[in-house]
Amino acid sequence: MKPNSLLQTLKAVVRELQNSLDWRICWLTTIAASTPANAVSLAARWKERYGPLMFFTVANRTVVGLNTVDVAHEALRKMEFGNRPYVASLQLLSGGGNNIGQSQIGPRWRLHRKLAIRGIGCFLQGDSMDTKIRQAFKITSECLESMKGPFNPKSIADLTIYNMLRPFLVNKSYRLEEAGFQKMIGYNDDLISDFGAFMIEDIIPPLRHIYPSRKYRRTAERIKYIQDELGWKELREHKAKFDPDNITDYMDVLIEEQKKTEAEGGPEDISLISDKYIVMNVVDLFTAGTDTTRSTLNWMIKFLVVYPEVQSKARDEIDNTIGRDRLPMVSDRNALPYCEAVMLETMRMRPPLPFSLVHTTRCDTELRGYQIPKDSVVGLNLYTIHHDPDQWDEPEVYRPERFIKDGVLDQKPRSWLTFGTGVRACLGENMAKTELILILACLLQQFYFRLPDGVTELDMDPAGCAFVHITRPYKIIAEKRE
Ligand code: HEM
Repeated sequence: MKPNSLLQTLKAVVRELQNSLDWRICWLTTIAASTPANAVSLAARWKERYGPLMFFTVANRTVVGLNTVDVAHEALRKMEFGNRPYVASLQLLSGGGNNIGQSQIGPRWRLHRKLAIRGIGCFLQGDSMDTKIRQAFKITSECLESMKGPFNPKSIADLTIYNMLRPFLVNKSYRLEEAGFQKMIGYNDDLISDFGAFMIEDIIPPLRHIYPSRKYRRTAERIKYIQDELGWKELREHKAKFDPDNITDYMDVLIEEQKKTEAEGGPEDISLISDKYIVMNVVDLFTAGTDTTRSTLNWMIKFLVVYPEVQSKARDEIDNTIGRDRLPMVSDRNALPYCEAVMLETMRMRPPLPFSLVHTTRCDTELRGYQIPKDSVVGLNLYTIHHDPDQWDEPEVYRPERFIKDGVLDQKPRSWLTFGTGVRACLGENMAKTELILILACLLQQFYFRLPDGVTELDMDPAGCAFVHITRPYKIIAEKRE
């Protein structure tokens, strides 16, 4: 190693030791998450033992566990609970804490969150989303029709979700057989299984500068590919053909905002919307918006083949309200309360992020009379809240009807926290739900789904790490309706 690079490495190690104390939480999650079933059952036992609010100290750092719905709402609506921890692998994904999801509360986070909410809002109005659904479903439907015999629906669920979000972000779709799609899915799947599972750099961060592990290098390589493909390459192409009178996608919206700020804003405003932050914003929406939603779609299909009576009831609702002559549209959503209940119940049973995303406190604060120091790590025991018998009747039973009252969708229960709550709550909730209900309605309007002959049950335990709950592989038969 040259003296210069040795010096740089040493500086990076010192900086890492100064900044990164949150690796301590990774000791815990890593041990707890040795299997996903372990992680959620351990979290449920903690709730039984310690009650609504749980504190422990790991190497001088306070860790707070929010175990019940009341305490979760109480804490997470406070700005003081709104920061994120420093975790080496997430630093990679967020380009050093520079995307929306891993930014600390501050002007850049506010600006990019506002831009994302506005961009999604525009997408949900007019016929933009209907057009994207029609285009995405056409490709999905062709793939389903070509499947002869039992198949694992995962890649078709992945394709459908990618083809909803990618056109919104950069106005492009994928085909199932396309090498770029297979590579993108493969890389994202690797990231899902590597995050939250044992990564030595999350425990001893300076190692990433001295002797990064194979897993860390693999993760870095995959993240670089995703950021280059979905971010930098697209930004170059979009800038080259940018036309303010023809804004076609979300990347254009961000470029337009950048140009406006460059013309009217001061240096500080301009620095908040640099090329790097545009790229991180787009890539963040892509990863945050696809991994969670494709996991839900895959779970939903699995529940529908295990519970054929739920599938029939949802299909009847679609036939009776929309019929068979046209595809479902955004404006049909209110007419499909049972389909919506199927989605809500699937996400209650198997929330894609069983522990949400970890928060930290921005300053010394207080919760229920307890003093909580600045930089405490705050975790939401979301899965346990979704299965809490004090909140849900027979929580282990899959029953969409629990969300329906007098034939209409009941108010969203306070203990349904799939998208988090408070200041850092998911900004894509409305988009994800609309997408999922419409895709479900399109699928059931056109196809029957069933278990292969001779198969009577499926393993409903989650696979993958504790970060995103994904299904174990399974096979189904899809039959086109006459
Ligand atoms: C089934 C689908 C989805 C689920 C279950 C989900 C769930 C969540 C959860 C639990 C959080 C963390 C909340 C917290 O820290 O308190 C989150 C944050 C976030 N989600 Fe989603 N999400 C989904 C879809 C989407 C979509 C479609 C987008 C955008 C296109 C999106 C963008 C984000 C972003 C940017 C954040 C970070 C917000 C912040 O830190 O300020 N998500 N999501």
